[in-house]
Amino acid sequence: MDKISQSVVKKDHAPKIEGRSVYVGDYVTARDGRPILTGKLLHAKVARARVLSVQVPELPAGYFYVDAKDVPGDNNVNIVLDDTPVYCRETVEYIGEPIGMVVGPDEKEVQRILSGIKVNYEELEPILDLRAAEEAFFDYEFGHGDVEQAFREADKVYEEEFETGYQDQTYLETQGMMAEPEADGRMFVHGSSQCAYYIHGAVMRVLGCGPTGVHVLQDVTGGGFGGKEAFPSILGAQVAVAACKAKAPVRCVFDRREDLEYTSKRHPSLCRYKMAVKDGRVIAVDCDVIFNAGAYSTLSAVVLQRGIIAAPGVYNIPNVHVRGRAVKTNTTPCGAYRGFGGPQTFFAMERMMDHVAQDLGVDEIAFKEAHLVKQGDMTSTQGRYHFPVPLQAMIDEVDAKCQLKRKHEEYKKRQTGRFRRGIGMSAYFHGAGFTGSGERDLIKAVAKLRKYADGTVEILASNGDIGQGVRTTFPKIVANELNLPLDKVYYDHPDTARVPDSGPTVASRSLMVVGELLRRAAIKLRTVWVEGQEQEVEERFQEPDFMIPFYLDKFQGDAYPTYAWGVDAIEVEVDTFTGVTRVLNAVGNFDVGTPIDYNIVVGQMEGGFLQGIGYASIEKMDYDAKGRIRNNSFSDYLIPTTKDVPNLTAMLHVEKYPYGPYGAKGAGELPLVGATAAYVAAVEQALGAGKHPLRHAPFTAEDTVKELTKEGN
Ligand code: MOS
Repeated sequence: MDKISQSVVKKDHAPKIEGRSVYVGDYVTARDGRPILTGKLLHAKVARARVLSVQVPELPAGYFYVDAKDVPGDNNVNIVLDDTPVYCRETVEYIGEPIGMVVGPDEKEVQRILSGIKVNYEELEPILDLRAAEEAFFDYEFGHGDVEQAFREADKVYEEEFETGYQDQTYLETQGMMAEPEADGRMFVHGSSQCAYYIHGAVMRVLGCGPTGVHVLQDVTGGGFGGKEAFPSILGAQVAVAACKAKAPVRCVFDRREDLEYTSKRHPSLCRYKMAVKDGRVIAVDCDVIFNAGAYSTLSAVVLQRGIIAAPGVYNIPNVHVRGRAVKTNTTPCGAYRGFGGPQTFFAMERMMDHVAQDLGVDEIAFKEAHLVKQGDMTSTQGRYHFPVPLQAMIDEVDAKCQLKRKHEEYKKRQTGRFRRGIGMSAYFHGAGFTGSGERDLIKAVAKLRKYADGTVEILASNGDIGQGVRTTFPKIVANELNLPLDKVYYDHPDTARVPDSGPTVASRSLMVVGELLRRAAIKLRTVWVEGQEQEVEERFQEPDFMIPFYLDKFQGDAYPTYAWGVDAIEVEVDTFTGVTRVLNAVGNFDVGTPIDYNIVVGQMEGGFLQGIGYASIEKMDYDAKGRIRNNSFSDYLIPTTKDVPNLTAMLHVEKYPYGPYGAKGAGELPLVGATAAYVAAVEQALGAGKHPLRHAPFTAEDTVKELTKEGN
């Protein structure tokens, strides 16, 4: 193991396990000692309506009702497009849309006032089903080769439809933001979040002030998983407007029910795939991908881009056509969640490959192996896989670990008992870092190191620790280059007033991109180091020169500099009486390059893999006929624990990336991406492959029973 991979105690370990960490909900007063007002949102109760009037009961002294009329600047939250209002415009577009906020000193009184508000709606017909959607926020198309010609000359053409559902991030800490008007006129916004500078930009626009009028701090954050990429910009804007009106600090922390019903989650998807086979090889794939964006576009553009770029999977297919749409429905806006569009399309592609292999009478794993991309091959967007593609070796390692191939052969035999077994395999990637030219054109990351006279070094960057460990791994990198003990280097929670914009904490970019800037900054500091002096050095992002420039209008070029690779094998036992499925064995093999801390990376891989298994099996969330999400508690929305998958193994296959720090690549999202395809393949095999083609996820116990009763099995 490289020295840098050796595990250390995480910098935030002690305060977290001792319960000393201060989360946004824990502050007793504002920073300057003033009391904090409680804000609670008035959420729309219907999915689509004109808001005719809002009757607010008489407010006691010190209480406020805040809505769109109180927004000093633009009533639009900067995300990708700016269609998301701070507080609703003339219409509400989904159940839960914030109409206003009640603010005051006593939480019970705030709740009482909120319950007394009457909203008069003129109800409009909502569109809930993505199949019935009339508007696409985004509609992309790309490809290469000649798909039409390939379908004409094929021996056989296959068509299938795949669906995936919602998945909620279910971070332990719900969404929460606080705004404090400061004595010097600045607005101080802080809370549970991933992207301090996103919130900064959003609040500036909403308050109509310049960059120095606002500063944003990331508080200790109890999990994000993508759910705190964009949502805190909305909630941050809402509390900032409220704090402006009340001229006092305002905090809004969601309860679990609000969080599950009204905050962003993974996009449900419908993928229609068409595949052409000639002489036993896939010669063309046509992917039609539809994501349910919900009522506003938020991050759907970028989630969809990542999803469709991954749509043809990890296979070398000469003719490719992809169309992707993110459609509007009157439902909770969807957003970022670990994997960011990849889990949906990899599910479709991997299942399609399995089914085509079954029809051809060849082994699914062998069929996939025969089509794997290799270093130097073209990507779906006519870029290149510039670096080694270790998928075959990773499959072999998984096979050695859990006898994947032997078991897969064995379980093909007809099973008739109550308990039946299956094993499924998936192969996949996660493009490391931002999609396309985002890093070069939009983010332009800057990171700094400040050395103090006493020889301690502070990291100045804007990436938040959301449990993934950057408070520890960033200092490890810097300490390593400066030959300092780890306790001489520290990384505080970023405050935009103090740190440069090194970009958001998303896209598995922080360690790979910003970690490398810090490594270079540390080398620079080492060369100019003067004992006893305060010194500062800075590094700026430069796109590696091997990259084929990406053009979003054509979806052409290198969408990512490199890829993290994954192979999963999941073995299950299905109880055909109850439908309950037990995971006997889950083995994930992950290539995220050099682990900058072995325990941190293995922890990431185990957690993400388990989240993926939850998404595949039990995490079912849906809305009712009126558009209300029904799974709004942890008794209605189940997430897995270690007890559900006791035999989970995360293996690391290390293929170093020369442009990441010590060979590290993006890590955080990869382990969730392939679980759904492997799990559903395993259940399918247990039920009898060929007989029961399974095409949706999650695939629950109820689904299994339905499948088995279809033909009196
Ligand atoms: Mo992440 S899912 O790119 O916030």
